[in-house]
Amino acid sequence: MSLPTLTIGNLTARFPIIQGGMGIGVSLSRLAGAVARAGGVGIISCAQIGFQDPLFEKSPLKANMRAIETEYQKAKTIAGDNGIVGFNIMCATYQYERYVKRCVEVGADLIISGAGLPIHLPELVANSKTKIAPIVSSAKAVKVLLRTWAKRYQRTADLVVVEGPQAGGHLGFSYEEASMEPSVMDQEFGKILKEVAAYEEQFQQKIPVVFAGGIHSREDIDYYLKLGASGVQIATRFVVTEECDAPDSYKQMYLRAKPEDIEIIKSPVGMPGRALHNDFTKRAAKERIPIERCRNCLSLKHCDRKTIPYCISQMLLNSVTEHPNEGLVFAGAQVHRIHEKTTVPALFAEWTGLSETTFL
Ligand SMILES: Cc1cc2nc3c(=O)[nH]c(=O)nc-3n(C[C@H](O)[C@H](O)[C@H](O)COP(=O)(O)O)c2cc1C
Repeated sequence: MSLPTLTIGNLTARFPIIQGGMGIGVSLSRLAGAVARAGGVGIISCAQIGFQDPLFEKSPLKANMRAIETEYQKAKTIAGDNGIVGFNIMCATYQYERYVKRCVEVGADLIISGAGLPIHLPELVANSKTKIAPIVSSAKAVKVLLRTWAKRYQRTADLVVVEGPQAGGHLGFSYEEASMEPSVMDQEFGKILKEVAAYEEQFQQKIPVVFAGGIHSREDIDYYLKLGASGVQIATRFVVTEECDAPDSYKQMYLRAKPEDIEIIKSPVGMPGRALHNDFTKRAAKERIPIERCRNCLSLKHCDRKTIPYCISQMLLNSVTEHPNEGLVFAGAQVHRIHEKTTVPALFAEWTGLSETTFL
C-alpha cells in the first residue's frame, strides 16, 4: 500500500514523514533540504544554529540570527520548488521570541516547538504564512495549549507532534515514565487524538497529528497510521545518512551503539534526555562539570547557571566538534537497530517501497 500525503494547511508533503529537528548541528540545511527534496518535511534545528560562524563565540545570538537565514536558503535550494522546510525552536531557548520572529522573517514554512508549551507562539507568527506545531507528550498538555490558543488568539495548531517515550533528546516524561510500555503511550495517543478532534470541529480545519519516538521501519510507520496518526516524525534514523550535518565521528557512535549503551540522563533544562553512554555521561553521573563559558542558550528560568550539572551547549557542541566521546550524543531508543550508513533517498526508498532513483 502506498503511503498517504501529509497536508498542513495549504502545504502538502508527498509522504507523511517529518524529519525531527536535531540540535546542535545535527539537522541543518543539508539534511533538512535532502528530506524535503525526497518528499518529506525537513526541519532545521535552531539550537545554536550559528556555531560554525566565526562571530559565534563573541556574539552567539547574532551568529544564530544570521545562520537562520543562510541555512534556510540553502535548504530551500536543495529542496526544490515544492519542498517543505521548517525550524525546530525549543521553548526553553533564551530569547525564544527573537528566534521565532527571525524564522518568520526568512519565510519559514513551519515552526515546531517543544521542550515546554509554546503558549505565545500564535502572536509571534501573526499575519505570516508560517505554520505552527507544538510538541506534546500528553492529552493534558495538548488540552491546556489548544484551549489557551483558542481563547487568547482565536486560532489553533496547524499540526500537532506527539512525542512518545522512545524519542531521542529531551523527553516530556519523568525518569520512570521514560521506560513505559509502548501500549501505555498508545492509549495516551488515542486521548490526544480526541482532544485535537474537538478543535478540528471548532475551527473547521484539519489538524494533522504525527507521532514521534522510536520509529524505524515501514511497519512502525504503518502502525501509527493505523492508530490514527496523519504521519510520523523520525529523527534517529536520519543521523547515519550521508546528508546529515553531524560529523562522521558522531555517526560512528550511532553505528557502534548497542541496547545497553542507551541511557536516560539529567539535563540542565530540567527534563530527562535519552543519550548514548560515553565518557561524558560517566563523568556527569559522578560530578558537576564546570561551565567553561556561557553562550546564553537557555532562558534564566530554564537554566540556573550556579546549580546546573553541566552546560548543555558546551556538551552538545563537544559532540559535533572534535570530541563526541566527551559530549552529549542524543539518540532514540531504537538506535541499536541501525547497522550501516545510508542516504536520505535510500531511506525514503525503504519506507515507500519505491525505487531510490525516484528521490534523487
Ligand atoms: C540527536 C538528536 C537531537 C535532537 N534535538 C532536538 C531538538 O533540538 N529539539 C527538539 O524538539 N527535539 C530534538 N530531538 C528529538 C527529535 O526531534 C525527535 O522528535 C525524536 O528524536 C524522535 O524519535 P526518534 O529519534 O526515535 O526517531 C533530538 C533527537 C535526536 C536524536
